[in-house]
Amino acid sequence: MDLLEEIKNIEQEVEKKFENVKDLDQLEELRVKYLGKNGKVKQIFSKMGQVDDDKKPIVGKETNILKNKIQNLYNEIKEKKEKELKEKKLKEETIDVTLPGVKSNIGHKNPFTHIIDEVVELFLGMGFSIEEGPEVETEYYNFEALNIPEDHPARDLQDTLYIDDKYLLRTHTSPVQIRTMEKQDPPIRIIAPGRVYRSDELDASHSPNFHQIEGLVIDKDISFSDLKGTIEEFVHQMYGEDREIRFRPSYFPFTEPSAEVDVSCNVCGGEGCSFCSYTGWVEVLGSGMVHPNVLRMSGLDPDVYSGFAFGMGWDRIAMLKYDINDIRVLYENDKRFIHQF
Ligand code: PHE
Repeated sequence: MDLLEEIKNIEQEVEKKFENVKDLDQLEELRVKYLGKNGKVKQIFSKMGQVDDDKKPIVGKETNILKNKIQNLYNEIKEKKEKELKEKKLKEETIDVTLPGVKSNIGHKNPFTHIIDEVVELFLGMGFSIEEGPEVETEYYNFEALNIPEDHPARDLQDTLYIDDKYLLRTHTSPVQIRTMEKQDPPIRIIAPGRVYRSDELDASHSPNFHQIEGLVIDKDISFSDLKGTIEEFVHQMYGEDREIRFRPSYFPFTEPSAEVDVSCNVCGGEGCSFCSYTGWVEVLGSGMVHPNVLRMSGLDPDVYSGFAFGMGWDRIAMLKYDINDIRVLYENDKRFIHQF
């Protein structure tokens, strides 16, 4: 076939092919096929030697025209295809701002978290650090090491949730006292917040699982007045400077002497109302000087070291502070409730 004819054929072929190109990949294939190193245009140039001399200029000219034509077609279609692609993308990404928004579900701190944040900050400020202990405890840490005798009612099945003969769900955070004294030398100044369990029926003021915050200070020459000062500072900062405090003699097997701490009722201001059972006082924590037996069992010499401990109901603090009259709402995690704090 005559080269000029071949050029014509290629020209027709090219027009059709480029017109029907679907995407940029196909377009690139065509470019390689016609303009590439071994493409059809190159092939014509390489056949130039066979052309008669007088025809060479015209064949050369036509080949160049073909080459430019293909190049232009390629550029044109490439631009068009790229534009189409961009438009398609933009269309897919359009946001209809008139549609109602999707509200993301953001959580909220439970009152417990608010309380502990505040309590932790307060005690950190007084030089305490934070300790933790297991919720599944041994009888030893929960009772024995705390000087709680075998026949003490707290050990009863009625009060304690046993897992087996040896393990139980801790009934208070006091075992952390022992664990801390065993692993750390005095001076000790810790608080230990955590979940505790008792075999109670659920009602407005009882829950089989609730929370406590334990405190323990051990050093040389720690006296009851250190206990009083610490508790007073805590109560005043937590509940307000205007609250009155009273220490009422009490009994705990692991402290001697022991005291329960009451603050003046926030509802009636100490006059007496149904909230405080007409006493004018609300109980906030148990406390006392660490019993010598407890120190001894934890490996400390009671002739050298002394200390105090306290334990408070974390739930109770939340209820007092936020005027909550039913403990159950603290555990239901109803967002309508939680979002109020
Ligand atoms: N563990 C006691 C309770 O649960 C509270 C307490 C802690 C009392 C520390 C004295 C000292 O009631």
